[in-house]
Amino acid sequence: MVSAFLLLAIIPLFSALDPKKWIADGIDKVGPKSLQNITLPGTQNSGTYDLTEVQVPGQAIELWPAIDVVIKPFHLNKEKEMIKWSRDQGIQIKDQLEKGIRYFDFKLAFNSTMNNWFVYNNMYGTAIQPMLQTIADYLKSYDKEIVVVELSHFAGSYTKLNLTNLQSTVKSTLGSYMYPVNTSFNFTVNDMIKAGKRAVVTMELEYDGVSIWPGTAIKTTNPNVDKESLLINETTPIVEEYNSKLWPGVLYKMSWVLEPTADTILHTLLPWESHTVEDLSDHCNKHLPKFWEKYEKTPYWRMGNILVIDFNEKSDIFDVVMRMNGIS
Ligand SMILES: *[C@@H]1O[C@H](CO)[C@@H](O)[C@H](O)[C@H]1NC(C)=O
Ligand SMILES: *[C@@H]1O[C@H](CO)[C@@H](O)[C@H](O)[C@H]1NC(C)=O
Ligand SMILES: *[C@@H]1O[C@H](CO)[C@@H](O)[C@H](O)[C@H]1NC(C)=O
Ligand SMILES: *[C@@H]1O[C@H](CO)[C@@H](O)[C@H](O)[C@H]1NC(C)=O
Ligand SMILES: *[C@@H]1O[C@H](CO)[C@@H](O)[C@H](O)[C@H]1NC(C)=O
Ligand SMILES: *[C@@H]1O[C@H](CO)[C@@H](O)[C@H](O)[C@H]1NC(C)=O
Repeated sequence: MVSAFLLLAIIPLFSALDPKKWIADGIDKVGPKSLQNITLPGTQNSGTYDLTEVQVPGQAIELWPAIDVVIKPFHLNKEKEMIKWSRDQGIQIKDQLEKGIRYFDFKLAFNSTMNNWFVYNNMYGTAIQPMLQTIADYLKSYDKEIVVVELSHFAGSYTKLNLTNLQSTVKSTLGSYMYPVNTSFNFTVNDMIKAGKRAVVTMELEYDGVSIWPGTAIKTTNPNVDKESLLINETTPIVEEYNSKLWPGVLYKMSWVLEPTADTILHTLLPWESHTVEDLSDHCNKHLPKFWEKYEKTPYWRMGNILVIDFNEKSDIFDVVMRMNGIS
């Protein structure tokens, strides 16, 4: 008797949310809402956990001279050094999905020698198609999970045909899951689940406006600073502006990330300064819960519809975003 009573009393103390299927677990709260009324945890440069030592031509013009300065005294490899400042994530797409990430950001470069589209951030990563396939496989395994995928910053010497072929790759991989374009966002998460169309996919060019959304459907804000104190200061007005009005036609994306500048890289000559994006994110990720606490009590406030972070596996973004969604 007594133990049964204790069990009943204790069970509600454990969160019922499994990051692998948090939308399914929180469906009572999340299901009836539009994408404009929830927040999805996301990653910036989602596919950069694995970068190669091959430079994408024309990228990081302002960072390479600083790299040249810092490698000289130590005879370091400049490509390896640049990877440290370009690798924004430490785990693969499937692991990110299992940790609750539901927004993915892919900058794509076409390499004509390899005749394929690759994710990149300054340096080439791996091909995009297998990453999209991983997302499609996940949507197949978990029938109530939804995702937003953004393809942007197209680089390299691609042709019109290459863009058309990229669109075909997206359609043949994620096509059956893509929610039809309607920037009135007049549909709920439940509508997406019911239709089995649980992916909003945007392309900055060559969107068809039917199943592939224009890049402008996601509004990006990025403080573009390399210090956590500046990030806190810059993000405060962004959060206030976002919550002060409606944003018709867009999903609003906020970034809790630090971006290296030439100065950040030059500072690596000082041993106690950050040496990688991972070091930078170790500094800022831990401030997110406290930053959010200031706004938490204001009804309906959130940090955008999408909140992105670097090295999400070393952050509390999942808990923070679940609190915004009222399902922690
Ligand atoms: C979204 O939020 C707005 C403002 O709070 C509310 O008027 C609207 O009914 C909500 N719609 C959905 C579908 O969540
Ligand atoms: C394409 O990739 C190959 C192999 O990684 C590399 O050697 C080449 O420089 C790249 N081409 C361009 C234009 O970036
Ligand atoms: C890219 O475009 C070139 C020139 O139109 C074409 O020869 C090549 O096959 C295309 N590759 C892909 C993957 O679209
Ligand atoms: C978008 O949704 C609105 C509201 O439901 C509807 O009136 C409109 O016809 C839809 N547009 C398209 C292209 O489906
Ligand atoms: C779309 O919005 C209109 C009002 O703006 C509402 O009456 C209608 O029910 C909505 N449709 C859907 C599918 O949510
Ligand atoms: C952040 O803002 C506070 C208050 O306005 C100011 O005192 C502080 O100097 C700012 N910090 C930085 C790093 O700009």
